[in-house]
Amino acid sequence: MNEVSKQSQWKTSTGFILASAGSAIGLGAMWKFPYMAGVYGGGAFLLMFLVFTIFIGLPLLIMEFTIGKLGRTYTTAIFGKLSGKKWTNIIGWSGNLAVFVLFGFYSVVGGWIIIYIAQVAMQLVGLGSGTLGSIHFDQVISNPVYTIIGQGIFILITMVIVMLGVEHGLEKASKVMMPLLFVFLILIVIKSLSLDGAAEGVRFILEPRMEDLSMQGVLFALGQSFFALSLGTTGMITYASYAPKEMTIKTSALSIVIMNIIVSLLAGLAIFPAINAFGYKPEEGPGLLFKVLPRVFEQMSFGAGFYLIFLILFLFAALTSSISLLELNVSIFTKNDNRKRTKVAVIGSVLVFLISIPATLSFSSLSGIHFGAGSIFDNMDFLVSNILMPLGAFATTLFVGQLLKMKDLEKVFGRDRLKLFVPWYYLVKYVLPVVILLVFVMQLFK
Ligand code: PHE
Repeated sequence: MNEVSKQSQWKTSTGFILASAGSAIGLGAMWKFPYMAGVYGGGAFLLMFLVFTIFIGLPLLIMEFTIGKLGRTYTTAIFGKLSGKKWTNIIGWSGNLAVFVLFGFYSVVGGWIIIYIAQVAMQLVGLGSGTLGSIHFDQVISNPVYTIIGQGIFILITMVIVMLGVEHGLEKASKVMMPLLFVFLILIVIKSLSLDGAAEGVRFILEPRMEDLSMQGVLFALGQSFFALSLGTTGMITYASYAPKEMTIKTSALSIVIMNIIVSLLAGLAIFPAINAFGYKPEEGPGLLFKVLPRVFEQMSFGAGFYLIFLILFLFAALTSSISLLELNVSIFTKNDNRKRTKVAVIGSVLVFLISIPATLSFSSLSGIHFGAGSIFDNMDFLVSNILMPLGAFATTLFVGQLLKMKDLEKVFGRDRLKLFVPWYYLVKYVLPVVILLVFVMQLFK
């Protein structure tokens, strides 16, 4: 079993925080949060999401960082290494399956961003016709050829970066790109708030009307917290296993949670105040962000140029996440031996591309196929966010609570002026497994 090699470690704690924040913050906060909140109860969904993120997500993130820092190896070996029980590695395998399927539908949305970039760029250089408002989401996604090419390009870019192992370059870039993305989101929020009917949209997303929240909505809110923080997939375990020894678990976890909440809120406030002005409904589904934002940018001077820059920043945020998705699957097969990296990255990407095809076609040729949670795309998302992630997290809490020694965990927990270790440990050992299981079981009786 190879330990993580020197060159794949991040040199500083900041490098680690940037990389794990890059992995966590992506389509989850910006695309999926508003889409889910729109369908499952607006302000009440937001409230549940906040409660789950703070009281379940944060301690779970600390837990995953702790395991990574203790075990320092890839995730299909780390559980066995730490507990002495090889069968526990099944948690790592299940996490990798989750990540594989996740990448399959993630790349569909990544592909949409690429198509939008191409369309807006063409309009800007005078090759495309119409205005931003004339880009119709339903037309974009119903073209199987374009969407398959779009997601192919998205997977290809991810593959090249992982193959070359140049993720470190991206961290430097994210120091500029991420703050810029914040600035753009704030700009959009300001513009949206000035549109007709904005107040109603603000009320929709901020006012918790509990009667709008269904049991299903509660489960989806939990799934959303897990998805956005990459929990239950062992993704954060892997990143922490690459972290320098001096990385501070609590500060890193807290900063990621705060950034994630801020980006989700900004995305909500960018979109909902604008929907009335353009005649959209909150429950527009996966296309919500892609439908509303071009219309908002259209209202600004130099809107197309700004929209293009925004899309590039958005793509960057999605790529820093997709890279981590591929990296996870690559690390378990290279077992941290970098000579196999290229071959494994290529095979992994081709397989992801294959499973992403039915996901994308569920918006066009295969749109008639509906079962379980909805279309093929919906089912892939449901399987990952609402089943594999909560189960993965549940199994990991049992692993930590039952098989690891409290004093080993305490060693990596770091300076503990606020005396948080003991409450955190009991929360993970007794409370979280019960809560996750409860929410999970409730879906069976919805
Ligand atoms: N959290 C990422 C996002 O919101 C998705 C992700 C899940 C990344 C699991 C890695 C592992 O976009």
